[in-house]
Amino acid sequence: MLTAKNLSKSYKNIKALSNLNLTIPKGELYGMLGPNGAGKTTTISILSSLLKPDSGEIMYNGKSLYQNLSECKKLIGVVPQEIALYEDLTAKENLNFWGTMYGIKGKKLKQKSDELLNFLGLTERKNHKIKTYSGGMKRRINIAAALLHEPEIVFMDEPTVGIDPQSRNLIFEVIEELHSRGLTMIYTTHYMEEAERLCDRIGIIDEGKLIAEGNLDQLKKASSVKEEIHLKFSTNKESNLSGIQNKYKSQLQLHKNTMLFSTSQANADLPELIQSCVKSNILLDKIDIRSLSLESIFLELTGKSLRD
Ligand SMILES: Nc1ncnc2c1ncn2[C@@H]1O[C@H](COP(=O)(O)OP(=O)(O)O)[C@@H](O)[C@H]1O
Ligand SMILES: [Mg+2]
Repeated sequence: MLTAKNLSKSYKNIKALSNLNLTIPKGELYGMLGPNGAGKTTTISILSSLLKPDSGEIMYNGKSLYQNLSECKKLIGVVPQEIALYEDLTAKENLNFWGTMYGIKGKKLKQKSDELLNFLGLTERKNHKIKTYSGGMKRRINIAAALLHEPEIVFMDEPTVGIDPQSRNLIFEVIEELHSRGLTMIYTTHYMEEAERLCDRIGIIDEGKLIAEGNLDQLKKASSVKEEIHLKFSTNKESNLSGIQNKYKSQLQLHKNTMLFSTSQANADLPELIQSCVKSNILLDKIDIRSLSLESIFLELTGKSLRD
């Protein structure tokens, strides 16, 4: 469906993308996982023809994007990171506007727009102005707008950032339904639970480079980390933690009152880890050994934590 070869893009002296390669078969839900600034939006903008790469080649169904621009654009739907709606118009009027932009008119537009408003759970609010909508409802209208012209591939750029949990779940259900209907999708996120839950394959992107790719099992097999020790702790001094953090560096992540320790052999490492905690006056409340998560894989590959 989509192949991109050696995409590179710099903004002045910032290298936003370097030699990115992607092959997305028809019907795949591909997750692009990376921290802020990794190059996700740049990739989506280039693939959807909004931004020109400095170099590289993009093909849709075997046809070059730039040599078949209008034909390829019909195949593409984009849910942008920044919400693009007219606040003083109603949801229905916004969809009418987008429909007209895509050349859809009359009965067909009304039918499609009603169908999508229903699909996204917005029928009851369709005649209300967008400015009265919550962030999640706006995002849902943006998704509807991207689907109006029945694209074959849809790019969703961090569609769950800054929205309420109810809308987030509804968006997941919508994406899963679209996936089951065979729509090809590229979904960017910096939340690994989303990539894990939704995506057939995941590409890990950092500093403009795709550094790993595969389904969850393949990513796990390729990783030298095999298990995670989760420790719940309490301590009355922040400084108690710095010793243990210095000792284990990126092998150990601290989040409030939990530690995540990534290892190739949890049983062998556990006694020493507990001893280190005892020495640092860290009281342990709970110890769990779990199988590998995307979080540890990401940390191993990039040295970075993906959490906000
Ligand atoms: N219009 C722009 N001008 C200059 N630098 C930009 C611009 N857009 C993005 N960048 C930079 O390019 C890099 C990749 O950005 P982006 O693609 O937005 O990442 P992501 O979507 O993963 O957060 C970042 O370092 C960002 O600061
Ligand atoms: Mg972005």
